[in-house]
Amino acid sequence: MSWALVPAAGSGRRYGADIPKQYLLAAGKPLIEHALDVLLSHAVIEGVVVALAADDPHWPGWSTMHGKPVVTCIGGGERADSVLAALRALPTGVATDAIVLVHDAARPNLHADDISRLHAAALAHVDGAILAAPVRDTLKRADAESNISMTEPRDGIWRALTPQAFRRELLRRALETARADGVVVTDDAQAVERLGLHPRLVEGREDNLKVTTPADLALAEFLLASRFLRKDA
Ligand code: CTP
Ligand code: MG
Repeated sequence: MSWALVPAAGSGRRYGADIPKQYLLAAGKPLIEHALDVLLSHAVIEGVVVALAADDPHWPGWSTMHGKPVVTCIGGGERADSVLAALRALPTGVATDAIVLVHDAARPNLHADDISRLHAAALAHVDGAILAAPVRDTLKRADAESNISMTEPRDGIWRALTPQAFRRELLRRALETARADGVVVTDDAQAVERLGLHPRLVEGREDNLKVTTPADLALAEFLLASRFLRKDA
């Protein structure tokens, strides 16, 4: 059995709403509730640790969901600090070689099948595994004036998604090393890569979007509303 870690201590600066984006509603529920709901309804997930901003007035106070524990802790200044805080808040009974899945609170459209395939890959690969999607657009390198300086080859380029899954002790070592080196990593795999390791890419659904801007929320609303209409959640 595995635990999920959900960093939810961000302020949503790029979104620019009055409240942190993880609490914005889509299809009638806060984004974070969609994320927790999918994680905790999955059979491989035993519980979650959610990293919250200090004195977060928006957190609804869940302590269980689907009959499984929801533990909270205080996050940090960067996403990686929040993930590390969540790791440290795991119950003591969670084994050092247990798989933990890190998933952004602002990614509401996760599907159970992606969790299953990621979890299986993380069990099979000692360096862990992440959900990711191949880049489809043509990539341009810009110069200082926003003119194109060149077209970048897109072969073998993937977008990193979440969840990302690693053995508990490996993730702790990776994040603590990045912090000690003063490097701000933007996802968990980057911290593991810095140790010279090579997590597996698991092709995930392209509609597992992270809400960053209002346009993303409109898309999330569309995806979630049609998903629940189909009842194939
Ligand atoms: N996060 C966190 N602690 C931080 C920063 C981010 O737990 N110090 C969480 C966010 O709440 C979000 C996830 O990490 O669920 C992904 O981060 P991002 O999309 O960058 O969210 P924000 O940092 O809130 O947004 P912005 O960068 O626009 O301020
Ligand atoms: Mg951020």
